[in-house]
Amino acid sequence: MKKLLVFFCALISCATAFSQGNNYEQTYEKFEGLALTPPMGWNSWNKFACNVNEQLIRETADAMVASGMKEAGYTFINIDDCWHGERDSLGFIHPDPERFPSGMKALADYIHSKGLKFGIYSDAGSMTCGGRPGSRGYEFQDALTYASWGVDYLKYDWCNTEGLKAEGAYMTMSAALRRAGRPVVLSICEWGTDEPWKWGPRVGHLWRTTGDIYNCFDCVEDHGTWKSWGVMQILDKQEGLRQYAGPGHWNDPDMMEVGNGMTVNEDRAHFAMWSMLAAPLIAGNDLRKMSKETTEILTNKEVIAVNQDKLGIQGFKYSSNNGLETWFKPLDGGKWAVVFLNRSDAAQTVTFDWRKTSIKDELSNRELNASNDTYKVRNLWSKKDAGTTKKTFKATVPKHDAVMLVLSK
Ligand code: GLA
Repeated sequence: MKKLLVFFCALISCATAFSQGNNYEQTYEKFEGLALTPPMGWNSWNKFACNVNEQLIRETADAMVASGMKEAGYTFINIDDCWHGERDSLGFIHPDPERFPSGMKALADYIHSKGLKFGIYSDAGSMTCGGRPGSRGYEFQDALTYASWGVDYLKYDWCNTEGLKAEGAYMTMSAALRRAGRPVVLSICEWGTDEPWKWGPRVGHLWRTTGDIYNCFDCVEDHGTWKSWGVMQILDKQEGLRQYAGPGHWNDPDMMEVGNGMTVNEDRAHFAMWSMLAAPLIAGNDLRKMSKETTEILTNKEVIAVNQDKLGIQGFKYSSNNGLETWFKPLDGGKWAVVFLNRSDAAQTVTFDWRKTSIKDELSNRELNASNDTYKVRNLWSKKDAGTTKKTFKATVPKHDAVMLVLSK
């Protein structure tokens, strides 16, 4: 009997302790009302990797305005890895004094003076992927520092996080930002490992769905212990994720490689697909030296409008045949965006009879029925009207290119 009593008491105290543990409630919520459409901006990593400094960032801000990108909707100027110097004796992080001699507050002020927003990068682990100080154990302190600098966007990476659980680690930074009080878009860069689309919507505003993008249309780069992925490989990895995206919380298939060396056709296809995916449009090229073609792609307002559509419904693949894919994206006002993507190595002819196909999107409960309604067809790259859905659509799509249309009633 005594033994039983001891056992019983042990059970009660254990249960009490357990319930106390469970009683802890996270009282901070992410900033709502940010990123109601996919964020648009620029990030230093794809082109400059660790070679960042304040002159580059200021010149990029200037170029974002001068090139027409700001006018087209791009807002964020984001510094990726390697801006960091050391932590001081009180634990405060400082920028690298050689690369950022004027300090981050002055840089943020400059960016804000151009009507743009300022983004920065850190890591949930002890060190960033580039070996700079991470935020682990310093989350609330770093968030205060970022707020004092005027940071508007934080990309938070996942290197050197042994023993951490992703959701909790990102919750901690989300809470820290909230506590610091300055609204910050939180970009979860966890590479899709722990299915961030399932917990990310509560914690941040966008989450990487894959490992890093590679500047190539259709290939895989093997780095030994990890791989980076071409545009088509990343596109394929988005399958099954569209239901998780929506206003304020987006799937992030990584920053763009437009203007970094692929062909103009490939860049066009890349930009068309990121727009169909309702992906964040974060340019990753040198904005100071853009070709006319690159500028035209990145600032095509009608394509951007597909990406920024207020419904925030991620597009879907309707069919795939010999490397020719047809994609649809429902838009506000009963409109539809359509892309014919040619992944193959030869030009292909598209023949699409709108009236013979009824397109149903079960997720958004929307239907494109061209035998009941006639839609006007607009070609977004040639910027020309292309008749109506009464006529079968015909076009030649060059290899690694995409024809993009909007249908409206
Ligand atoms: C990781 C991220 C990249 C970039 C680098 C910086 O690989 O996924 O986007 O931020 O780290 O080191």
